[in-house]
Amino acid sequence: MSLPTFTNDIFSFLDEQELSHDIEAAVILGSGLGSFADQIQESLTIPYEDIPGMPISSVQGHAGELIFGEINERSMIAFSGRFHHYEGFSFEETATPVYIANHLEANKLIISNAAGAINTSFSVGDLMVIESVIRNNLAISPLGNSKHQYQHHQWVPKVRKIAADLGLVTQLGNYMYVTGPNYETKAEIRSFRKMGADAVGMSTATELFEAARLNLKSTAISLITNMSTGVTGEKLDHDEVKAAADARKEDFAKLVKALIEKL
Ligand code: HPA
Repeated sequence: MSLPTFTNDIFSFLDEQELSHDIEAAVILGSGLGSFADQIQESLTIPYEDIPGMPISSVQGHAGELIFGEINERSMIAFSGRFHHYEGFSFEETATPVYIANHLEANKLIISNAAGAINTSFSVGDLMVIESVIRNNLAISPLGNSKHQYQHHQWVPKVRKIAADLGLVTQLGNYMYVTGPNYETKAEIRSFRKMGADAVGMSTATELFEAARLNLKSTAISLITNMSTGVTGEKLDHDEVKAAADARKEDFAKLVKALIEKL
C-alpha cells in the first residue's frame, strides 16, 4: 500500500522509540476535545515538533502531541492536535495520524471533530455518528487514488448501540467536508442541506478515506458545537465551539472509552 514519502522519517523515528505495535486503538481528538488526554494513563508523550518528518504548522502556537498510554489496561495512542488543510497542509499531510496509527498496527481508529449543525433538528451539544461524507467534489484523495471509499458504515449501528448502552443519545448523519478556514455563508448552508448534509466541518474526511484505503477499521463522531450559519441568525465564534465541547467532554470521554473496549 503506497504511502507518502514524508512518512518514512516519521516511521524510522517511531521505530527507534521501540514502541509497542500491539495497540488497541488510535484516537484523533477534535477541537476542544483535547482534555480526553487527561484520562490516559500515560507512558510517553512526544511533541509533534520532536518527530522528524512530521508536518509542521505555519500557524503559530501549540503544534500538538502524540500520547502513548493505556485506558482500562488497553494500550492506545491519542493525537492531540490534528492537521487541517486550511493551515497549509496538503491533503496527504492531513492524514498523517492515520498513517501513524496504521504503522503501529492499531486495531481501530476513533476520529472526533467539532462540527456545525445543518440539520435543524440537531442541537448544540449533540453527538453525531458520521454515516457518510460529502466531499463536494473536492479532489481530496491523497496520492490521487480515487478508488477507495469510506466503507466503514458497517460500524455505525454498533457505535450507536455502545453509546445507547451508556445512556447517550446519538444523532446519525452525513458530514459535509469544507476546506475552511472561513465559516460558510447562509446560501452555502442552504445548498448543503439540499445535498443531504447534516453537519459541516473542516477535518476528518481525508482521515476516514485513508483509513478505508489502508483497511484500518474506523469510525468518526462529530460534536455539534454550533448551529451552522443562518440557522439561528447569530454570528458564529470560536468561543462557542470551545464552550460546547467543554460541556460534553465527559460524555465524549465515556463514549470513546467504551468504543476502545467494545468496538
Ligand atoms: N462550520 C465549519 N466547521 C466547523 C463549524 C461550522 O459551523 N463548527 C465547528 N467546525
